[in-house]
Amino acid sequence: MTKKTLPIERILNNQGFGVRKFCRILVRHNEVCVNGQACDDPFAEFELENLSFTIDGKTWDYREKSYLMLNKPSNYECSHKTQHHPSIYSLLPYPLVARDVQCIGRLDEDTTGLILLSDDGQFIHNMSSPKHKVNKMYEVKCKHAIDEAQIAHILKGVQLLDEDAPIAALACERLSEHVITLTLAEGKYHQVKRMVAAISNRVEALKRTQIGDLKLPKDLAPGKWRWLSESDLSNLNYPKT
Ligand code: URA
Repeated sequence: MTKKTLPIERILNNQGFGVRKFCRILVRHNEVCVNGQACDDPFAEFELENLSFTIDGKTWDYREKSYLMLNKPSNYECSHKTQHHPSIYSLLPYPLVARDVQCIGRLDEDTTGLILLSDDGQFIHNMSSPKHKVNKMYEVKCKHAIDEAQIAHILKGVQLLDEDAPIAALACERLSEHVITLTLAEGKYHQVKRMVAAISNRVEALKRTQIGDLKLPKDLAPGKWRWLSESDLSNLNYPKT
């Protein structure tokens, strides 16, 4: 079978480096190396498989779709049209924003931790549809000390305003007097804060630490992102339909 090839100007365009005219200019001005070799012909064809290219000293692998994780810092909003704080999209390189990567579910502006982004519509749907329950784990610092009765209550189910039935955490563990981990199957609006309020407590700090079996890596500093590896993707345990 012949492998798929495309001219470099189209490759750069679909990887988010600008409109085709701009990509042609980049190549003609010797700004681009492909697979380690200088390339000044915008119409030179390259196989997409295992392709890498360098622009401005940074090397990129060709990716048909983008899948990434970000360690969201506090005081960033998960939106393009922000109200009070900068956007999480400002933490990503511009080609990824141009490729229209979207975050999968939102975190509140004061919530930190693991957030996934992609430009693969089917993946976003599979990960965010309420039908496909992908568990999320949070570390929650509460204002008041948490006792066993509160934990039992959250595991049994709490009634939230505007919900038909009580919602139970899948797991809840006490890490210290004021800190618990909470695992949820749903991703309802302000769910953790509302569940903690329903047990007469209050969230003081909230961090998402895990989605499916994918943990926020300890070496991913707040504000930093990285590509999801094959094993990260399989740890998400999401339905591939
Ligand atoms: N639950 C909340 O209350 N806030 C978040 O950001 C995520 C889950």
